[in-house]
Amino acid sequence: MVILNDIYWGESAPVAKYDQHKFAEFAALSPRELEQECRDQHGRLKHIIRAEHFDLDFLRTICETADAARSVAKMEDKFMKSLLTAKSVLNYFKQPSSRTFLSFSMAEAHLGMRREEVRDLKTSSEVKGESEKDSLRTASSYFDAIVCRHPSDIYDLFAVWVMKSSNRELPFVNAGSGKSEHPTQAALDYYTDWRWFNGDLDNKVFAYVGDCKRGRTIHSGAKLMALHKDTTIYFVAPEELQIDPETERYLQERDAKVIKETNGLASVVPLAHKIYMTRIQDEHGGKAEYDPNFIFRKEFLATMRPDAILEHPMPKREEIDPAIDYIKDDPRIKHWEEQRNGMWGRVALLAYLFDADADIRCRYEKIKSIGAGLRDN
Ligand code: CP
Repeated sequence: MVILNDIYWGESAPVAKYDQHKFAEFAALSPRELEQECRDQHGRLKHIIRAEHFDLDFLRTICETADAARSVAKMEDKFMKSLLTAKSVLNYFKQPSSRTFLSFSMAEAHLGMRREEVRDLKTSSEVKGESEKDSLRTASSYFDAIVCRHPSDIYDLFAVWVMKSSNRELPFVNAGSGKSEHPTQAALDYYTDWRWFNGDLDNKVFAYVGDCKRGRTIHSGAKLMALHKDTTIYFVAPEELQIDPETERYLQERDAKVIKETNGLASVVPLAHKIYMTRIQDEHGGKAEYDPNFIFRKEFLATMRPDAILEHPMPKREEIDPAIDYIKDDPRIKHWEEQRNGMWGRVALLAYLFDADADIRCRYEKIKSIGAGLRDN
């Protein structure tokens, strides 16, 4: 059952009723039918809305393109900036963001894209009663892609429906929808894991800690880990913030072993290959009261596996010991590097959407073949 209330349907009741009826038909598609709607005739993703639409081939393409892009940009910035000069994108952020907004914006700049933004909704004609459907369709008249963050759990579905209802179906990228999904964050977290584990993510134990119930980065990220063989996923949270049954069922259906740990983090730290901390998402209600048993303390670095990593999608509060931010000689601490990886991951995603990813990888191979000293960026 799709909840319609957190989409603004405009000031006209008859129009709202009509639109809602049409949307409800689209929202009733099965997961497989929805995925088909998000792919083109060659099977490539044309809308990036859900982590469950990613497969291992796609993720490898994104990781290899991101790695290539950061080296090519260092050596041949002009080439990178020539790739998508004819393309434009709207960064449409209806909920606060620092890193997703900025990293998309810089990713677009690296590819030479023309970019505009809407962040202050007081400047939108929605204040005059225009529905979000008409507002999004208007935006689609001027750009070649839309990157959007929204407080609604179903905005991604809604946006694809709006695109498909028009005769200008632009690529739509979900930059975070309510509590449900944050697929581009999941892709960049995966890229961070992929670099650390040299692409070998089978037989691993992943620990997601904090607000597992409402954390969209956890919902999307855990789904990607379940693509791998022999995956064990711990959800480390008090009972009231434990993983929702829908995500748990999804993971189990894909043979991931799911373990819910409600007593605290200490016993899980030595077992995990990745410890993924998250903030309590109190923007969705309740108070952010931190139980010390679920905080990553500095002394846990001593009990962590030598090959494990500590991640956090950010923003953070007190769930990671503040002393950890000042440690520079422990490569397992990844939450700052993760942010830079995010920009290159988003370069790769945008390049993929506009079919320029192979050009980046080819250029990288060419630079390598002439023996130029490649460097990371
Ligand atoms: N990780 C993340 O989505 O951060 P922002 O909310 O700052 O974009």
